[in-house]
Amino acid sequence: MPSEPGARNTALLEVAGLSKTFVSGGLFGTSRPVVAVEDVSFAVDCGEAVALVGESGSGKSTIARILLRLERPDAGRIVLDGDDVLDREPRHASLSYRRRVQMVFQDPFGSLNRTHDVAHHLARPLLRHKRATQKDVREKTIVLLHAVGLEPPEEFISRRPYELSGGQRQRVAIARALAVDPDILIADEPTSMLDVSIRMDILTLLTDLKNERGLAMLLITHDLASARYLADRILVLFRGRIVEGGPADEIVVSPAHPYTRALLASIADVGRLGPEPAEAKVDRIDRADTADSSDTGCPFAPRCPEAMDVCRKTDPSYRTVGSRRVRCHLYPENAGRSEE
Ligand SMILES: Nc1ncnc2c1ncn2[C@@H]1O[C@H](COP(=O)(O)OP(=O)(O)OP(=O)(O)O)[C@@H](O)[C@H]1O
Ligand SMILES: [Mg+2]
Repeated sequence: MPSEPGARNTALLEVAGLSKTFVSGGLFGTSRPVVAVEDVSFAVDCGEAVALVGESGSGKSTIARILLRLERPDAGRIVLDGDDVLDREPRHASLSYRRRVQMVFQDPFGSLNRTHDVAHHLARPLLRHKRATQKDVREKTIVLLHAVGLEPPEEFISRRPYELSGGQRQRVAIARALAVDPDILIADEPTSMLDVSIRMDILTLLTDLKNERGLAMLLITHDLASARYLADRILVLFRGRIVEGGPADEIVVSPAHPYTRALLASIADVGRLGPEPAEAKVDRIDRADTADSSDTGCPFAPRCPEAMDVCRKTDPSYRTVGSRRVRCHLYPENAGRSEE
């Protein structure tokens, strides 16, 4: 894989050329291919948080599912700590891979089993991955509850999911992911189903875990404000492709791609971490005019306020703009790699 300008060479997880098309059956036996992910490449360094930001249907969860090995990509590579994972384990992920790459889902209630108590949810991965023995499993469970701020842990250990608030349930889900001491945590919209008042608490918890444990993270969100809060770098996805990627602050302060600008413009206050009143507006930006997209031009051209003739005819390559990679004709072409 070509290296990024000024590469740090400590990539924990690298994906290169990831693509996935779904063919869903239509009426009368017709099938329509949906390109969910197209030639996506990026890296997450040890201890780094990267946010994948994009609107509904932009391919965020498909990327997460591919990384969790729940979905097979049509093309591309996943390299964990130098190991080409798909090459080595083509059909199923090894127990070791599953330990190292953990997930926190959007719906904390759906991801916990209502018939089991908190102790069961945490003891299971601890024992399965040999992180605890029957003798010390309770003690280790208490340490985990403590780490995710469920205090006093003894009060939570025998509760069932329905005896917890949404935020507490998400903390249990995070503790379960931490139980196996992962290298990277993939969090798919971890706060979007939570009450506004506790979203910030969960983001703060994730930030603390990153800073204190050096845990790498891939945060998936449609909210640029959350991305800026937690992530070191942001990758903006539009229709399955990364259109802009770079340092989180730079992207939010001076977005280079017109799509990123449209996303930001729809957020009244980028410091806001509450609900997304602008979501509907952004969805309109994302979904409008799909019929106008040309096959050869930039997919964003039909609604881009800055579109030029070339945008309608030629798909732009990646360009380097300062410390960013931007897929847009507004910037001069330069010799760079085709990935963020
Ligand atoms: N199993 C599947 N079969 C067919 N199409 C799928 C499947 N999974 C995803 N898709 C399609 O792929 C595209 C990307 O979906 P994905 O769930 O990755 O988007 P997302 O960015 O996570 O959206 P959201 O923000 O709504 O969660 C969508 O058009 C979706 O309809
Ligand atoms: Mg999703």
